Amino acid sequence: MKKVITYGTYDLLHYGHIRLLERAKALGDYLIVGVTADDFDKTRGKINVQQSLMERLEAVRATGIADEIIVEEYEGQKIDDIRRYGVDIFTVGSDWKGKFDYLNEYCRVVYLERTEGISSSELREKKRQICLGLVGESLLLDKFEKESHYVNGIVVSGIYTGNEDFLPDSVKSSYTRFETYEELLEYSDAVYIVSHPTKHYEQVKKALLSGKHVLCESPMAMSREECEEVYELAEKKGCILMEAIKTAYSTAYCRLLLLAKSGVIGEVVSVDSVCTSLRDINSLNPLDISNEWNSICYWGPNAMLPIFQLLGSQYAERSIAAHFADEAKKFDMFTKIDFIYHNAVASLKVGNGVKSEGELVISGTKGYIYVPAPWWKTDYFEIRYENPNDNKRYFYQLDGEGIRYEIVAFVKSIEMGKINSYIDKDVSLSIAGIVGDLYNGNQVKSF
Ligand code: CTP
Repeated sequence: MKKVITYGTYDLLHYGHIRLLERAKALGDYLIVGVTADDFDKTRGKINVQQSLMERLEAVRATGIADEIIVEEYEGQKIDDIRRYGVDIFTVGSDWKGKFDYLNEYCRVVYLERTEGISSSELREKKRQICLGLVGESLLLDKFEKESHYVNGIVVSGIYTGNEDFLPDSVKSSYTRFETYEELLEYSDAVYIVSHPTKHYEQVKKALLSGKHVLCESPMAMSREECEEVYELAEKKGCILMEAIKTAYSTAYCRLLLLAKSGVIGEVVSVDSVCTSLRDINSLNPLDISNEWNSICYWGPNAMLPIFQLLGSQYAERSIAAHFADEAKKFDMFTKIDFIYHNAVASLKVGNGVKSEGELVISGTKGYIYVPAPWWKTDYFEIRYENPNDNKRYFYQLDGEGIRYEIVAFVKSIEMGKINSYIDKDVSLSIAGIVGDLYNGNQVKSF
């Protein structure tokens, strides 16, 4: 019996796939189809696959062409499969010509002519495009715009900015710049907001009132109450409202959260997170300080993320100590916050003008998780135990600092009409609450 094997993602199964499967089957007597798992697809750069692995497996099964279906989960698996199943012929479409010649050592390799005029990418594109307006004055706009090209189903409608000087040249030259925010909203289905945090609440509210979906850099508002209000409004208007903290969408960070929650370091007793960067404080215009991102806005959401996601927001005590650069005490160059929970503690240090080691340490009763600096761009972490022989190292490819996956989650949420955020509302509210307390000097010790 001649065994044939072929692999693919088979997202939104189309006749190009079916033709390939039929011809693959005709090459022998028994056809094995490998369907690529979501995680493996991500590492191959296919991040926007619409259907789940189960749906894709089911679609391939329903064609009735495959004699056996397997899941492709890791790099190098093809060699393993060919040996294990005693495969005679490996085949894929001609778009892969030459890429799998190395398998000739194990079996015959056949490239079948690809069907012209159809692909999963095109089908994903054809679904209605979401017009996304960019709002704000930050270099992040540049990164965000670049990352948006990796995601199917979204197209930038234009930009509204309060300050042209902050716009990166690449963004300036490529898009319509709207004179008013209202105009941008008119031409957009959704907005990404990265203006100064003091503007977020008004801009988020306005967008929601116009029925637009919102992805807003954290903090979403300058108080817990305002944050609560916009979440309620989003629900009322049937709009998606998501907080943007790119770290929350990085694979390594998501995995370390799951590991910590599943007890690999025992009970979590302490979370200590540090995020800092240097800046030239003398260049700050004292009259214009309200346009600057202070430490708590710039780094606070990142630093608070693992604390609230692991320990929740019901802390018993909290103390804030901040070092301000201005007399009005709005620009904290450095802030240290300590939290005491019922059975754990946490601390964070943020600095925009003061530098420290940007690590994350999660301590538990059996061991600890260590993420080296800069932990917020994490692709690597370690779980360490008393006996170093038990230590484990984890590495996950990080593409686009997490922004790409953040946009995918936003687009999926809009398409499904259901929030697919990695950041709970409760976490957003707590972040906004702390930022507001610092701005208003509410129980803040300055030094
Ligand atoms: N294939 C084909 N003809 C097409 C599309 C795909 O013969 N028009 C083949 C591919 O060469 C591959 C298999 O079908 O052997 C599975 O392809 P997959 O990557 O899942 O589909 P694409 O439509 O190419 O997906 P994408 O657009 O995401 O790359």
